[in-house]
Amino acid sequence: MAKLTVSDLDLKGKKVLMRVDFNVPIKDGVIGNDNRIVAALPTIKYVIEHGGKAILLSHLGRVKKEDDKPGLSMRPVAERLSNLLNKPVTFVPTTEGKQLEDAINGLSDGDVLVMENTRYEDVKDGEYVKRESGNDPELGKYWASLGDVFVNDAFGTAHRSHASNVGIASNMAQTAAGFLMEKEIKFIGGAVDNPEHPFVAILGGAKVSDKIGVIDNLLSKADKVLIGGGMTYTFYAAKGMKIGNSLVEKDKIDLAKEILDKAGDKLVLPSDSVVATEFKNDADHKTVDGDIPDGYMALDIGPKSIKEFEDVLKSAKTVVWNGPMGVFEMPNYAEGTLEVGKFLGTLSDAKTIVGGGDSTAAVQQLGVADKLSHISTGGGASLEYLEGKTLPGIAAISDK
Ligand code: 3PG
Repeated sequence: MAKLTVSDLDLKGKKVLMRVDFNVPIKDGVIGNDNRIVAALPTIKYVIEHGGKAILLSHLGRVKKEDDKPGLSMRPVAERLSNLLNKPVTFVPTTEGKQLEDAINGLSDGDVLVMENTRYEDVKDGEYVKRESGNDPELGKYWASLGDVFVNDAFGTAHRSHASNVGIASNMAQTAAGFLMEKEIKFIGGAVDNPEHPFVAILGGAKVSDKIGVIDNLLSKADKVLIGGGMTYTFYAAKGMKIGNSLVEKDKIDLAKEILDKAGDKLVLPSDSVVATEFKNDADHKTVDGDIPDGYMALDIGPKSIKEFEDVLKSAKTVVWNGPMGVFEMPNYAEGTLEVGKFLGTLSDAKTIVGGGDSTAAVQQLGVADKLSHISTGGGASLEYLEGKTLPGIAAISDK
């Protein structure tokens, strides 16, 4: 059933609590990548343009002790948001109490306030009490009491059942999705539940164990599942092929065999690989077909595989891509990932959905991000969604 969204709400003069995922990479107060802040702007702008008072809550990193707090303050995030919105943003350096309540009560229609990191509540008086991450019922109730309506736009946090998403929702009459959440549900949820065929999934990354749930679920939905990255060689080992010094999860070889048996020709492995003598960009490297020779490790898919993957992809109507095809951070082994990203940018008739850090970085580096249908802001959340799991943050949003 369709979810209630922010555009269904009357926002004028309302205190609009908004859960966003501003969990951005940050070092010494400097934000490394503001994608998640930018992705939440449409909902924030909508709320303030419709006369709401936007009260933003997010976690940042993992707070397990008092010393973690100073480096994980939301202050730099509030400053970046202010720059992006080109208007003042009030930052409140606390997560409860009079200072926060007074600041909220002092807001005018159209104002924006950012509260301190919700995970500061995980540590009280030096103790790791997990009030936020353990979804303490009193905390959810308290935060809910600060607003009139609740909008959840934090897709990246949707796989967590925490006080600031599920806890607040369970204390509000209604919870609406923001536009980002709505888009993630439409594209990722749509691909999993109701894909247009042919549906092709491209799954990469180092470990079978990280992707097993996704491979399993997508094998039952997709027409083809293309495998790349380090996990390829656990599948090679399962087929009795030589893998040289390539990455392998020995305890997952039997599982890989089971997947291969079940999948038949639905699962496509790379037919050639770029192999190197060492895990170094400038190591001696070459392309080989099939077996990986002794003394070499496979670090990328080869040109023949790229071509074969493109042949499968060219007629696809839905494509989901998660995970790199090789060691993307080393230029000599980045080609597989970059070529796949480039090719997806040419598929104008298909819904193209990308998730995961390296795949996202690849499409951004190539400048093709705007040619794709959707780039997910979720890491763990998008993987669990692709696994077919119910995400508590989404389940807690009201149906229309
Ligand atoms: C993420 O970056 O995946 C989300 O913000 C969730 O963060 P967490 O894994 O620390 O809960």
